[in-house]
Amino acid sequence: MGTATILALETSCDETAVAILRGRELLASEVASQTAAHESYGGVVPEVASRNHLVHAPRVLNSAVERAGIALEEVDCFAATSGPGLATSLMIGASIAKGLALGLRKPYLAVNHLEGHLLSPFFPREDAIEPNVSLVVSGGHTLLIEVRGLGDYRLLGQTVDDAAGEAFDKVAKMLGLSYPGGPEIERRARHGDDARFEFPRSMLDSGDHNFSFSGLKTSVRYALAKLSATSRPGERLNPKIIEDICASFQGAVIEVLVRKTIAAAKTRRTSLVTLSGGVSCNKELRGQLAAACHEAGLRALAAPNALTTDNAAMIAFAAALRFARGLVSGVAEEIDPNLALA
Ligand code: KG4
Ligand code: ZN
Repeated sequence: MGTATILALETSCDETAVAILRGRELLASEVASQTAAHESYGGVVPEVASRNHLVHAPRVLNSAVERAGIALEEVDCFAATSGPGLATSLMIGASIAKGLALGLRKPYLAVNHLEGHLLSPFFPREDAIEPNVSLVVSGGHTLLIEVRGLGDYRLLGQTVDDAAGEAFDKVAKMLGLSYPGGPEIERRARHGDDARFEFPRSMLDSGDHNFSFSGLKTSVRYALAKLSATSRPGERLNPKIIEDICASFQGAVIEVLVRKTIAAAKTRRTSLVTLSGGVSCNKELRGQLAAACHEAGLRALAAPNALTTDNAAMIAFAAALRFARGLVSGVAEEIDPNLALA
């Protein structure tokens, strides 16, 4: 990979992020979260996200450059996430990166957000990318991918309805917990009884590598309706019940993710399993996947904690790997909200 200096922007959803990577050294990785702006809506509102990116991006960019202690002229390549994501959010980061590339006469590199997640377990070791079966679990995606090398990906399976992170967010909303729901549910699940509610493990024996989480979400809704039918009007759910629902729900999601990932790894005869995406910061998921891999004689590699939820360091890393192979994009390359990985 050499010591090329890459500046990357990530604005595919509601985080405004800028990172500067020189060789293996992460000189800066700044993220401005918009969580507060979207919390009252219980999800990301595209118009609000793009307006916030416009406000945050120049400040985050300046602060990353300052922290890195470099001059913009020292950057060898400007990169940005070009999809998948919200069109009006992607546009902001990509336009800034293209503008910098044009102004400073440097190359521009468009990066697939999912490739950023997918390669993040190897960060920052550019020489270490090995064939693997990868579970990418985020708010927008639940994918099982066979990685044969940089840019050589085969989709094995994906969710047929809700993404795993989306299920965490929707169940959290039903429980009156704040957005994003993943960390809230994980915190409560720690004290809960995961056997109290019997939630379904959908598609465990479907014979393919796909997932489904909407039935699980509906089961939680029914369980809540049943509980409120037996409580007094206006009575709030007891915190212990909320903890038990969180533990039972999280247990169901994790069991399906882990068992299907191990099955895919065995089918594809790989020796390495990787894990990335926002949901992969869940400690229980990391622990259970690592244990199941160990039992199956597989190695497990999870994304570094700081690189699980959306960030620009993973985009800079994917860009650096491509740049080192002489791959660059033209500034005419458009964003694509539905950009596929494989
Ligand atoms: O990768 P990410 O930041 O954004 C997308 O590309 O979607 O993932 C965000 C998702 C949200 O759905 C959030 O609830 C989930 O990751 N998440 C978690 C945890 N932390 C974040 N899910 C489960 N447990 C967590 N600790
Ligand atoms: Zn993401």
